[in-house]
Amino acid sequence: MRKKLIAANWKMYKTPDQARDFFRDILPLVHGHDRDEIVVCPTYLCLDAAVAAAKGSNVAIGAQNLHWEKEGAFTGEVNAAMLLAAGVTHVIIGHSERRQYFGETDDTVNLKLKSALEAGLVPIVCVGEVLEEREAGLTDDVLRRQCLRAFHKVSAKKAVRLVVAYEPVWAIGTGKTATPQMAADAHAIIRAQAAESFGQEFADKLRILYGGSVKPENAHALMSEEEIDGALVGGASLDPKSFAAIVKY
Ligand code: PGA
Repeated sequence: MRKKLIAANWKMYKTPDQARDFFRDILPLVHGHDRDEIVVCPTYLCLDAAVAAAKGSNVAIGAQNLHWEKEGAFTGEVNAAMLLAAGVTHVIIGHSERRQYFGETDDTVNLKLKSALEAGLVPIVCVGEVLEEREAGLTDDVLRRQCLRAFHKVSAKKAVRLVVAYEPVWAIGTGKTATPQMAADAHAIIRAQAAESFGQEFADKLRILYGGSVKPENAHALMSEEEIDGALVGGASLDPKSFAAIVKY
């Protein structure tokens, strides 16, 4: 049995004060909930406030990105060691918004993945097709390519903590959700690629999250699919009641 992971991706929302308010409200709502792992990924600036607010609770804190170098002249960047020092345990890598707007490529995803694994962070690597690719019947190819290149020269031993998130780009922030069946089919492709890259035993244990307009209303149906091992939630994770409802699907 794979323990499900429900992760909040706050994107560029919330100040530290708003982050504290969120934790004040959500912690009582999810107190004692241990069926699923819960992670909240705020902006870098809110990490301190979030780590302090979530201390001793069942909610872990993740970052939304990292740089792969150990240190250096990389203005505006933050690396794995800095995240660890801030009390962060998880990190999102290769989100489609970073691929779309900030020049993230399969190669930088690979570098970031290696660096996160090396540091002991739990990487959540995002993959997913855009609408034109789905309509052209290319979903399978795109997912396999993104995974193959993300996993390049990563060993199964090193990758034990790896989590993958399937996020069809056409479903992100659009209110359009993949049907549970569509998501399950895509997850099966990703799992097949993981089996080729890391072996079947690894693939059987790999957690694959679904992301793209997950809401309290559709969380149960999605999470009931055996292939779906959790959710990466954007918009609906900003409100503590709505995120708690998703956690409890
Ligand atoms: P959404 O975002 O839930 O707002 O669609 C998901 C994501 O981008 O991770």
